[in-house]
Amino acid sequence: MTIKETVKKHTNELKFVTHIPAKEIEILMMFLLEKNTIWLHINYNEEFKKEKELEKLVKKRATNYPIEYLTNKASFYGEIFIVKEGVLIPRPETELLIDNALEILKDKKETVNILEIGTGSGIISVMLALLIKDVKIIAVDINEKALELAKQNAIKHNVEDKIEFRLSNLYENVSETNIDLTISNPPYIANDYKLPLNVAYEPSNALFGGSVGDELLKDIIKHTNERNIEYLLCEMGYDQKNPLTKYLEQFNTKSFTFYQDYEKFDRGFTIQFNK
Ligand SMILES: C[S@@+](CC[C@H](N)C(=O)[O-])C[C@H]1O[C@@H](n2cnc3c(N)ncnc32)[C@H](O)[C@@H]1O
Repeated sequence: MTIKETVKKHTNELKFVTHIPAKEIEILMMFLLEKNTIWLHINYNEEFKKEKELEKLVKKRATNYPIEYLTNKASFYGEIFIVKEGVLIPRPETELLIDNALEILKDKKETVNILEIGTGSGIISVMLALLIKDVKIIAVDINEKALELAKQNAIKHNVEDKIEFRLSNLYENVSETNIDLTISNPPYIANDYKLPLNVAYEPSNALFGGSVGDELLKDIIKHTNERNIEYLLCEMGYDQKNPLTKYLEQFNTKSFTFYQDYEKFDRGFTIQFNK
């Protein structure tokens, strides 16, 4: 069977799990053949020799298992990152956190010291290390598998000298007093929220933030303020702007602004504390 015929044959099997079934079949084929799109399309009428392997992957994908876990890659901010089961898959809206951090840090002359809480696959820290010349980052997580993967991504992008990965529950193992900015995309979904099937394959400790959902975010705000760190940038749930605005009343902030994601949902905030 040719590549073209194989794509046609399997497309129907994925139509209930993705709105781009044919494209996903091609992605799986490219992964198996270790080829790119141009190669695939030039060779569309050649025989496809990995039908058995493809069948297995398509079957798994048809259960809603994320394609990124099958191919072990995901793109974020224009770069390719390694992803593995047990660690959250990067989401496009998290790119906005990077833009917000760059906006604050663009004029800083000296070394910038950043703390990332909940680094997961390391996408935020690695991107900041790639985009900011003079930066030192401490990236913490409670998931050892995530820290290992984040380190692999730092090595892949040649920024391992700029980032220290550390096992820590929030600020517990962070005693440094020179941090300029904390950044975090913490778990922020309420514990009893019923996840869509595709997300259910991702680690629950990367998703659920407590019985209301914003508990970890509030802890991060409180501890960042106590540590006398000037800036805090976080991603949050679409319905958390009001409770967090209320919570912020007790702190001495210079400013706080909320931002929306690409679909116009409230998605995060930047706080500047009075130092
Ligand atoms: C939503 S994921 C974000 C991962 C990555 N930064 C990203 O944006 O794709 C949240 C991460 O926070 C970590 N985490 C959860 N609770 C934590 C805690 N108390 N302290 C540190 N990290 C935590 C999880 O293991 C997970 O890797």
